[in-house]
Amino acid sequence: MKFLTVIGARPQFIKAAPLSRALRKKHREILVHTGQHYDYAMSQQFFRELGIPRPDFNLEVGSGLHGAQTAAMLAKLEPVVIKQRPDAIIIFGDTNSTLAGALIAAKLHIPLAHIEAGMRSFNRMMPEEVNRVVADHLSNMHFCSTNTAMENLKKEGITSGLYMVGDIMYDAMKYILPTKDQTAKIIKKLSLVPGNYLFVTIHRAENTDDAENLSAIMEALLSSGKKAVFPVHPRTERKLKDISLWDKLEGSENVMLIPPQGYRESLALQSAAYAVITDSGGIQKEAYLLKTPCLTVRHETEWVETVKTGWNRLVGPDKKRILKALAYLRPPASHPSLYGQGQSARLIAGHLERHLGR
Ligand code: UD1
Repeated sequence: MKFLTVIGARPQFIKAAPLSRALRKKHREILVHTGQHYDYAMSQQFFRELGIPRPDFNLEVGSGLHGAQTAAMLAKLEPVVIKQRPDAIIIFGDTNSTLAGALIAAKLHIPLAHIEAGMRSFNRMMPEEVNRVVADHLSNMHFCSTNTAMENLKKEGITSGLYMVGDIMYDAMKYILPTKDQTAKIIKKLSLVPGNYLFVTIHRAENTDDAENLSAIMEALLSSGKKAVFPVHPRTERKLKDISLWDKLEGSENVMLIPPQGYRESLALQSAAYAVITDSGGIQKEAYLLKTPCLTVRHETEWVETVKTGWNRLVGPDKKRILKALAYLRPPASHPSLYGQGQSARLIAGHLERHLGR
């Protein structure tokens, strides 16, 4: 069979890596990179690290407003799909690249498989929520990471082509997980003390594009009394400079601004942290799998199980709540298995073959 996979943003490179490996054992995969993420540290670095094959097509759409960015993807993706005539299109997650892949598949009547289907924040102000809902309603095959995701889809009337496969990020994580020595080396290089620093990532529009929210989160870091290692997404860097906070953070004693990290470095830094502070979806889940407590600077999460088990707390972009949660942080005693066994790619490949009848 011939699959066409559409990826474009950092978390999609990570998720595509294990599925590419599984599919290419028996099938042909055409890899299309939309070019949504293009900086070395946001893109090529992950291809090298995870051994992802070179994309067959790079649409090089770059940055832009949501409409313009998605439109550019559609215009460039359509002729590729018409020429390639794949048996199915595969999309991941909730980015504008996901949306573009979904729309093209639907318009060209090509079976569509959505990996990480059914996630919902129930907040339509988030561009990701809009992308997820559209992608799920256009998909024929829905590969869900959790039972909550399966239930979300059923409540929206999506009842066929549902597959519970666990979380594919766990597959990727198991593949690249740093050893104890590698972790120690990465921590030492940054002069960090294991268990005594915060690992921070912030990139969601609701935080970066709102000066009040962004300042509140940064003020919490500055007064946390803990070393905070903060790999800065390019969007966040620009916004911090716009509101004149960049220099203050750089000059501070405890906040350490570093460039976006590779996957292994990111996992190492999370695993040895006292706590993770993030607005990323993937990192909430990774922190859970690595048994590091997480504070999520959002009002809701798609990964509700991490909150129910007590490993993740929703603190919002609120300085007082962040500091209070840090002061009372206690890792729970139990750590149930929530996201499968890290075998999702193999399960997805099998379901795709059976669903498509070949
Ligand atoms: C996107 C996804 C988000 C995902 C995130 C992972 C959407 C709507 N959002 O958000 O769901 O969690 O990727 O990182 O698709 N930029 C660079 N260099 C790059 C990439 C981006 O400088 O390599 C800058 C661009 O100028 C752009 C900004 O970052 O203005 C935002 O990039 P964009 O891809 O639109 O969204 P993300 O914030 O990365």
